[in-house]
Amino acid sequence: MEWITPEDYLPRKLGDAIAAKYGIGLIGCGNIANSAHLPAYRKYGFHVAACCDVNEEAARSTAEKFGIPRWTTDVNELLDMDEVRIIDMAIHPEARLDTLRKIGKAPRPVLCQKPLALDLERANVLKNEAERLGIVLGVNQQARWAPAHKALNTLLEQDALGEVYSIQHLMYSYQDQSGWWWTKMPNFNIVDHGVHYADLCRHFNRSGQEWSRVHCTTAQLANQNSIDPLIYSANVEFGPKGGRQPLMASLHFNNIVRASRSHNYTWRIDGTEGSAWCSHDMLHIALTKHRNIVHEIKLKGSWFPDAFAGSMSAFISALDEGTPPPVTAEDNLQTVAMTTAMVLSSREGMVVEREELLTKELAKR
Ligand SMILES: NC(=O)c1ccc[n+]([C@@H]2O[C@H](COP(=O)([O-])OP(=O)(O)OC[C@H]3O[C@@H](n4cnc5c(N)ncnc54)[C@H](O)[C@@H]3O)[C@@H](O)[C@H]2O)c1
Repeated sequence: MEWITPEDYLPRKLGDAIAAKYGIGLIGCGNIANSAHLPAYRKYGFHVAACCDVNEEAARSTAEKFGIPRWTTDVNELLDMDEVRIIDMAIHPEARLDTLRKIGKAPRPVLCQKPLALDLERANVLKNEAERLGIVLGVNQQARWAPAHKALNTLLEQDALGEVYSIQHLMYSYQDQSGWWWTKMPNFNIVDHGVHYADLCRHFNRSGQEWSRVHCTTAQLANQNSIDPLIYSANVEFGPKGGRQPLMASLHFNNIVRASRSHNYTWRIDGTEGSAWCSHDMLHIALTKHRNIVHEIKLKGSWFPDAFAGSMSAFISALDEGTPPPVTAEDNLQTVAMTTAMVLSSREGMVVEREELLTKELAKR
């Protein structure tokens, strides 16, 4: 029985006509652009018209490596190019507001790398500024298009598991390498890397209700390089308090596991008709109606780079159809609210209510 086929979860190649119509102007030619964005665009037939980086060597070498026709160190120059129809923003959050304002002088739709901002207040400023400037702003929460996550989501769209009542993420990894930017970023493990899992938790939620409150704990090792904790555990509630709601989620991410052979990545979703769990390359399904059977599906493709094509492809399709981006800034505020709440919860040792946080943080500007 074919539950899920690669057509369900892998991006499709972009047609020549649509690729030509949506020439990409890449801002930020750093690590993620070179290791994921551009390999994905090359693999799936996107047209990158020009690239820009304040670092001349980064802009030039990226253009040479990927055969990009034009490069510049000046965003204004990039914006003067007619062939640049959309912007792929792959710079760090601090430089985004200023860059968005420059784009506002010659507005183009922008797909912005996650996290939209490192906290809710600044994410809201970017959202409002994009609206004021008439810029269509999408957020590149590309983990939604990673093969395993897309396959799991397809299963949920097929209603294969019945009513979903439990979502769990477990991850063991290592990102405490000294000298890298992420070890110096405040709350990196939650607000930057962890934002993928907060977003996926929301993405897999089929209850029709946004998350309500979160309690998060963290731990910090005595001799670690990172300035902030690299392990968190978050319990997420949906609906009114009282422990009687039909859905809960738990997210555990230990990103300072030195024994690499023990690293692991699992999402598990339980529903009234069955359960599914996946790693990056395997999806397992066990249903109440198929006793004694575990369906195993070996998945094709990988998060890096395929998901980056899926995200950009969905962004371009939405623009072409005149619909909002697949991940709007408005939607992403609820994800950034969750990571903001997780940081606050762990710092203060308290449960954080989403509504209260939104009211307080969004009133600041
Ligand atoms: N899976 C993912 O979604 C994923 C993975 C890694 C990084 N990221 C995100 O991508 C962003 C960039 O990360 P990275 O690892 O590529 O960082 P990086 O430091 O390697 O690259 C950033 C690049 O932006 C350039 N830059 C800085 N300010 C600029 C400006 N105003 N205009 C033009 N260029 C400018 C820098 O010179 C640098 O080349 C971060 O927000 C990070 O969180 C996402």
